[in-house]
Amino acid sequence: MADDFKSTLCVVFVGLSAIIAANRVAARPQRGDFELAAGAICNCSSTGGDDGSFDEGNRARYSDEEIETDSDFTIDKESRGFSLTDLVESMFSAVASGIGSIVTSIIGTEKNFRSRSSRVSYKNHQLIRLYPNSQEHVNDLKELEKSESEDVKFWTEPMYNRTTDVVIGPDLVSDLKAFLRYKGIDFKVLIPDLQKTIAHQNPKMTKEQRDDLVTTNGHSMTWKRYHRYGEIVKYLEYLALRYPNIAEVITLGHSYEGQPIKMIKISTGTNKDGEAKPAIWIDAGIHAREWIGSAVATYIVSQLVEKNSSYAKLLDNTDWMILPVVNPDGYEFSHTGDRLWRKTRSNHADDEDDSRFLQLVNRYTRWLWGKCEGVDPNRNFDYHWGEVEEGGASLDPCHETYAGPRAFSEPETKAMADYILANKQNIRVYLTLHSYSQMWLVPWGYTDTKPSDYSELASVAKKAIGAVTKIHGTDYQVGPSADLLYPTSGASDDWAKGVAGIKYAYTVELRDRGRYGFLLPASQIVPTAREIWAGIKTIARLVICNT
Ligand code: ARG
Ligand code: ZN
Repeated sequence: MADDFKSTLCVVFVGLSAIIAANRVAARPQRGDFELAAGAICNCSSTGGDDGSFDEGNRARYSDEEIETDSDFTIDKESRGFSLTDLVESMFSAVASGIGSIVTSIIGTEKNFRSRSSRVSYKNHQLIRLYPNSQEHVNDLKELEKSESEDVKFWTEPMYNRTTDVVIGPDLVSDLKAFLRYKGIDFKVLIPDLQKTIAHQNPKMTKEQRDDLVTTNGHSMTWKRYHRYGEIVKYLEYLALRYPNIAEVITLGHSYEGQPIKMIKISTGTNKDGEAKPAIWIDAGIHAREWIGSAVATYIVSQLVEKNSSYAKLLDNTDWMILPVVNPDGYEFSHTGDRLWRKTRSNHADDEDDSRFLQLVNRYTRWLWGKCEGVDPNRNFDYHWGEVEEGGASLDPCHETYAGPRAFSEPETKAMADYILANKQNIRVYLTLHSYSQMWLVPWGYTDTKPSDYSELASVAKKAIGAVTKIHGTDYQVGPSADLLYPTSGASDDWAKGVAGIKYAYTVELRDRGRYGFLLPASQIVPTAREIWAGIKTIARLVICNT
């Protein structure tokens, strides 16, 4: 039975590799599409010295990639003499294009593949929750995870006595269930067809409805649906224009693909002594697919700005720095390419500081497996970076929790961190919104030990979740990240506390507990936002005097 399963896995795995390989160009990121999308909404001109150098870097990387894609692994024209690397490279190339064309001629070109412009489909993919209750179960699941089949995607690492949610492709569903029954691992189907849930998540507005919104409100933002990055930015800019005395849009830098990373600072000015007020920082959208976080962040912005008269006291004593989408490239890709994308969209295959050999290996691994773009931004912060390998952060570029080639390799995390560091003397609370699982997490993630002021942080968090529950009865748990969720290193909350010295640093995992997971229906935006806003106001009152 187990062997049967393994051989099935093997067949699917090998088959899949061949398909991905044959279609290596089509399966690559639809970079061209994004350049267009980005161009339509962003102002790519640099806003300062730092940003300019990022732009340069990005442009250079783009053009390299284009050359590589068009002429498939052309050998460096500068090096005309004999080199072993060149020889190996050209051998690889020959084999690569050979296999590619053989497979293409057998199974055709378009049918089984994602075309350049199409999206990843999750038709008949299931989300399954696993309940391993022995170390043996965990080991079995780890084996399965190691197969790295595109048809089995673990959203969290298998761990003893914890649940793990896994996406299973249609070809593997019945074999996998048979395998789990055989091994005695309990499971529950959370979502029987992910694509159907995706389709229901975010109802489309007609063009007239959209136009109507813009003419009546001056912007197209609603909390009835999830919005594209361009709409979110336009909303922030609308607020800055309409409420210039309290709202300011600040461009922190540019993403890998050149989109501006925009935050809004909400402030009624300095205090009586002419000093900057204590501030609360809120970010969201570090992880691309966690749309609810960005929607909650813009809801909070709307409350503070458009309803500022109801929050006079809160604004008298506190400044708010809100960054709704830390990772705009990933966010956009989760709208247009792959709804379940988590990471950034960078490509570090040709990093200058990698050896030529590493670059070569990287390039061919990518060629073989297709898409290995992106770094997990929440493993990329420079505090105990890359330390917790076992399950916490990966050094494999193809992995969902790839920590990046070095700390702050991503322009997005770097831009955010630079701004926080420059303002750290004012920032009293660091909040980062993620989803899902309904938890108010307290550092640390990189170690099981607790910070010395853990009990203070936990007691504030408990009062916050008390306020959350009062609104709609939604239950949240409070606890240390490493223990309640799982160990990780390089996360933003650890960095905010450990490096920027912000005492009250929390990661909030929003709704739900897995009924919809990342695909939380848009109808839950307002209730989620209302309850979290209650929790955040409680924190503000507890941490900042006279609020
Ligand atoms: N879901 C988040 C992640 O995987 C949780 C991070 C919690 N923070 C931490 N330091 N572990 O990135
Ligand atoms: Zn997240």
